[in-house]
Amino acid sequence: MAEIAVFASGTGSNFSTIAEDFATNNEHSICALVCDRKQAPVLQIASQRQIPIIYSSYFKRSRREAEEQIINQLHEYKPKLLVLAGFMRLLSPHFIQSFNGNIINIHPSLLPRHPGADAIHNSWISGDNYLGISIHWVDEGMDTGSIIVQQAFHRSEVENLQQAEARIHELEHFWYPKTIRSILDQQI
Ligand code: GRF
Repeated sequence: MAEIAVFASGTGSNFSTIAEDFATNNEHSICALVCDRKQAPVLQIASQRQIPIIYSSYFKRSRREAEEQIINQLHEYKPKLLVLAGFMRLLSPHFIQSFNGNIINIHPSLLPRHPGADAIHNSWISGDNYLGISIHWVDEGMDTGSIIVQQAFHRSEVENLQQAEARIHELEHFWYPKTIRSILDQQI
């Protein structure tokens, strides 16, 4: 049994599938949701599931201050792994070191192609033959850490950007919980 903390800033569909997977398999649990946006829909999902929320605003204060709050609160829970799922902030080297680099992220493109924002749109308009997802360790760069899992599909399998997006989210929701469990099972 291990605990993870999930970081998210938005909708929370990945957070939701991880929570559902953990509830079904009953092996690991989410000790907290870390969120930087007061209006993020993911907050409601956490409340409904009675998962503790660590809210840390980056507004009008330095990244250092926002991160210190997260570090202090998270250290009470001692999570084995930090899981970024649509967290729209770049973590500092200090933060990453505080958790010994035990941090993973999911990105909706085949890295190193299309890091950063708008990755699905950029993958689509680039004309790349393959689109997909990457799950990777977090380092100091923007979506640059070493790859753990990638899953791809050929662009001919979808007709438009909306279908490509749906396919990418489907892959994310299948592979992220599975990959997290596999990392935790190896760690403990
Ligand atoms: C996902 O596409 C993920 O790959 C990216 O941000 C999005 C988060 O979506 N990093 P959601 O909030 O989990 O629905």
